[in-house]
Amino acid sequence: THMTEPRIIVHGGAWTIPTDRRKAHVDGCRAAVDAAWGELQRGMPALEAVRLAVNVLEADPTYDAGRGAVLNADGRIELDAAIMDGATLNFGAVGAVRNFLHPVDIARKVMDTEFCFLVGEGAERFAREAGISAIDPAELVVEREVRLFNELRARAGFSTHDAFRPRAGVTGAAGEKASTDGTACHCPVGPEPAMPKGTVGAVALDAAGNIAAATSTGGTPMKRPGRVGDSPLCGAGTYADNETGGASATGFGEGIIRVLMTRSACDFLRDGGASPADAARRAIELLHRRVAGHAGLIMLDRQGRYGVHCNTEHIAHAYALPGGGIHADVELRR
Ligand code: GLY
Repeated sequence: THMTEPRIIVHGGAWTIPTDRRKAHVDGCRAAVDAAWGELQRGMPALEAVRLAVNVLEADPTYDAGRGAVLNADGRIELDAAIMDGATLNFGAVGAVRNFLHPVDIARKVMDTEFCFLVGEGAERFAREAGISAIDPAELVVEREVRLFNELRARAGFSTHDAFRPRAGVTGAAGEKASTDGTACHCPVGPEPAMPKGTVGAVALDAAGNIAAATSTGGTPMKRPGRVGDSPLCGAGTYADNETGGASATGFGEGIIRVLMTRSACDFLRDGGASPADAARRAIELLHRRVAGHAGLIMLDRQGRYGVHCNTEHIAHAYALPGGGIHADVELRR
């Protein structure tokens, strides 16, 4: 059978990452690629490799996923995750699960059932029945997020969408500015610093030529309890299809949902025959043009070419280089 050289790319959120937190973001992404890359080369399927990479990022308190996730308006953590198999278009997802470190593992088990998406208590019960051990939700909470929660709670009129405004003076990576005329614009450019949004994700291509994608997140700071973002929605935050490619998104969930950003990105690979780099850029431009959103996106096509783009100041990301080595950065390669 035809053998492909494996590939893997991961992200750890797109926002203005403070200087003193950049190294941790880069190191964590590098570690996730490192963990999955060796396994992929030893024949691990892409589906398991993206789960493994996301597990590393979920366990790392640096990111808004698993341990270290942001707190919702009740001061609690609710996690969303999804995984997709590009060979079969099988899809598994969970929304608003509270007491598990690795929601992507539950999503993977959901994928093997007749269902695609379980939420809340039903998802938690399913996880326990599937043999995944629950943990005390307090084990997911880090001091940094408790401080942020208290800060935001004290700020009258805080909207979670404030988290998706870039800092004043920061324009999109593609040179665009958010529309300020109010039409369909949920994130006007303002003076507030960008809030943390370290959703994590991975896309891999295995030796058999199969593509898979996975995404895991704590969502947005101060989100309404029960709110589910783009990450676990098929074609919004997560998508994979062997006929085109795979993608994982991070950023303004309520916008990414409405433009089906990862599915759109994959379609650009098909329709226009765009490269993943161009498709990622076009998908971010689509998000910005239609819903004035800010986000980041990683991609991989069936030929193993990478795409990474954002219109935020940074996107934490890493990918295995053809021929060896790992590229990891918070800045886009210009
Ligand atoms: N992009 C993550 C979220 O909005 O939940």
